[in-house]
Amino acid sequence: MRRRLSSPRVAQKIAARFAASHTPEVFLLDTDRAIPYHDAFDSRPALIQIKKQEAMDILRIENLGLTLNERRILDGLSMDIWRGHIHAIVGPNGAGKSTLAYAIMGLAGYRDHEGDIVFEGESLRGVPVDERARRGITLAWQEPARFEGLSVRDFIAAGAKAGNGKRIQEALDLVGLEPSRFLPRAVDKTLSGGERKRIEIASIVAMEPRLLILDEPDSGIDVEALECIFNVLRVLKERGTTVLLITHSLVVLRQAEHAFLICDGRLLNKGPVDKIAGFYEARCAACAHPNLPSAEEGK
Ligand SMILES: Nc1ncnc2c1ncn2[C@@H]1O[C@H](COP(=O)(O)OP(=O)(O)O)[C@@H](O)[C@H]1O
Ligand SMILES: [Mg+2]
Repeated sequence: MRRRLSSPRVAQKIAARFAASHTPEVFLLDTDRAIPYHDAFDSRPALIQIKKQEAMDILRIENLGLTLNERRILDGLSMDIWRGHIHAIVGPNGAGKSTLAYAIMGLAGYRDHEGDIVFEGESLRGVPVDERARRGITLAWQEPARFEGLSVRDFIAAGAKAGNGKRIQEALDLVGLEPSRFLPRAVDKTLSGGERKRIEIASIVAMEPRLLILDEPDSGIDVEALECIFNVLRVLKERGTTVLLITHSLVVLRQAEHAFLICDGRLLNKGPVDKIAGFYEARCAACAHPNLPSAEEGK
């Protein structure tokens, strides 16, 4: 049956449906296989491809470059982050991972970059951090949050999308903290690092972000809390959150589906997590990376 697409909106809807379903049909829309789709719908393939790309990618990093204090920290980074998937950005210490996270979040001092960061099809150039948060981007810092004096209940409620008590309790349950014990506690140094991290993760669950960036989520916490975070990642994925794990740890890397390996501010390799984990383990873990390997080596 031939059907004419009446408007870009219809095209976008169809592309979004294919992308959301994760079925092989989505590949019908890829550049070199657009013809069958074109035949079937008698539409404009170029338009479909553009919309499909938007439907697939929640975030695109385009040729990102950043110089801080005359040091080149990020250099020509490009990457596509797929909606609803768990990605990792892996690389040795000093590779530029946190800097990339701050640039995506739009922190002051990290916005004056080259290239572009595109979220939901729109450039984030000039968009301040609070607006990025409103659009659904959340960054969990390497250091677990500490807001002295605020109760756990108020801390989670502050960012929660729907501030009802049930949501807050459910979020605490999910991170393995007994709500009746923890809700009235103050977020302060009487909590362990692991507890603070769990509370921060609970607040993120209640926030229902569209894109969650976790910077070194294993830092300063025990194995049990880390396992708990990994479980939460799976729940968030089921709920449609896209996750970007930033890590130099193979254990954390293994939680992702796709990975980008960065070294010295540049993209060295990307692909399914098995491929990248193998490469990272064999080559990067033991390397002090005094020199950036050639692009050929990264293949
Ligand atoms: N404001 C800055 N000025 C100069 N150099 C910086 C600045 N911020 C970070 N760097 C340097 O950039 C490199 C990357 O830092 P970072 O993004 O924190 O790496 P990672 O998170 O991968 O360990 C490091 O060598 C760091 O010392
Ligand atoms: Mg870092």
